[in-house]
Amino acid sequence: MNATKTSQLFSPVELGSTRLKHRVVMAPLTRSRSVQPDGVPGDLMLEYYTQRASDGGLIISEAAQLSLATRGWHGAPGMYSDAQVDGWKKIVDVVHTKGGHIFAQLWHPGRFSHVSLTGGEAPVSASVDPEYWQNPSRLISTPSGWIQPSPHRALAKSEIPGVLEEYGKAVKRAKSAGFDGVEVHAGNGYLIDQFLQDGSNKRTDEYGGSIENRARLLFEVVRWPLDVRDRSSREISLQTVDLSQIQPRQLSSTATPTQYRSVVTLFRILIFREGYEKDFC
Ligand SMILES: Cc1cc2nc3c(=O)[nH]c(=O)nc-3n(C[C@H](O)[C@H](O)[C@H](O)COP(=O)(O)O)c2cc1C
Repeated sequence: MNATKTSQLFSPVELGSTRLKHRVVMAPLTRSRSVQPDGVPGDLMLEYYTQRASDGGLIISEAAQLSLATRGWHGAPGMYSDAQVDGWKKIVDVVHTKGGHIFAQLWHPGRFSHVSLTGGEAPVSASVDPEYWQNPSRLISTPSGWIQPSPHRALAKSEIPGVLEEYGKAVKRAKSAGFDGVEVHAGNGYLIDQFLQDGSNKRTDEYGGSIENRARLLFEVVRWPLDVRDRSSREISLQTVDLSQIQPRQLSSTATPTQYRSVVTLFRILIFREGYEKDFC
């Protein structure tokens, strides 16, 4: 790395209302250490984030699940109960005390799940693909160990507002825990990615087909809180989209890199605090 790049790396940057002293950001890392059976962030998680917080730095939290029915990994924390919010609050407070910043990553695993995690609810996806749960090499972390995913069903169009609502509630909970922002997990083969990819999305409604249609769920998730609360409020600027994570394997077979970049331009999207302050406070 040359000197210019090094000095840029250690120079301040503003992300919405969050001012970082440098650009070394800790990536989200699922550690499976929440207190079970309720997915509450406890002492072990508190110790982990305390060790990693630094003055002026940013941590993206490990993926936090939206609800009991959207759990996809044994031990992963949630963002849907008061006890979870209390656990997160202790973590956020310590990070802030050390001068750091922390965003919550919000996660819907879609078909990457098992009924033993979801309270018996079948996992949902863009479309049904039996090969997904029949493949013996695909395993899910459950309370009884690593097992193949449960059969999933296609999310009905009428259910999508409920999914958006779950994201909205999780954003509010993250905010009440004191997080500086949230990140929507839109990659790695989970629900939003299952809609984005033409291999897993065979829908014939406005959530399937063209790249624009496959990206619809993602953009609704990102815009929903603002759209519902105040339809005249500005849309989240595409300047807040993190482009750096696009990888060749993320490209759908029918999309050229340019098309994909121009329409989707994502792997992870950061939603900054100021947008939500405007609408939720
Ligand atoms: C143990 C482990 C847990 C991870 N958990 C998450 C996660 O919760 N959310 C997420 O978006 N990515 C997760 N990732 C992906 C990482 O954030 C990161 O994108 C990936 O390791 C690639 O980073 P690299 O390009 O620096 O190697 C995880 C990776 C590892 C190894």
